[in-house]
Amino acid sequence: MAESIYIPTAATKAVKYESILPQVDALISSETDTYANLANVAAVLREAFGFFWVGFYLVKEEELVLGPFQGPLACTRIRMGKGVCGTAWAKAETQLVPDVEAFPGHIACSSASKSEIVVPGFKKGKVWIVLDVDSDQLGDFDSVDQEYLEKLMLLVDKYC
Ligand code: SME
Repeated sequence: MAESIYIPTAATKAVKYESILPQVDALISSETDTYANLANVAAVLREAFGFFWVGFYLVKEEELVLGPFQGPLACTRIRMGKGVCGTAWAKAETQLVPDVEAFPGHIACSSASKSEIVVPGFKKGKVWIVLDVDSDQLGDFDSVDQEYLEKLMLLVDKYC
């Protein structure tokens, strides 16, 4: 297993994503443990982009339960349809939120969080996990993040 990843500096966001996706593929395709892989994916995203908070919530019975993450401590359980994460689960689609204050029912784990993107992952057509990324800047995520984080979640679905 690779012990480090290469992240191009002074590159656009898209170039960084293009660089890390095959490296994430190599990293997690060679390990079978779900939590080990999720932990490394969170670490790679944090290292590449310096996200304020990045991590996973896993579907467990009727709730999302906190999984591996990087960043400040976070709420541990989220009900279906609640907050940005619970909405991504209920609607089974990515939620791109430029201003969390404007999102009805947003769950503020940290008052420093200003914008957010949540991308669901699927197994057998059902959401089994969501990737949550928070920024301390307004409007920090766009269609580029959505496109590549959705591609990354296909790897997570396949190998985790
Ligand atoms: N803000 C999220 C909760 C999770 S934390 O941001 C880590 C939400 O509204 O679902």
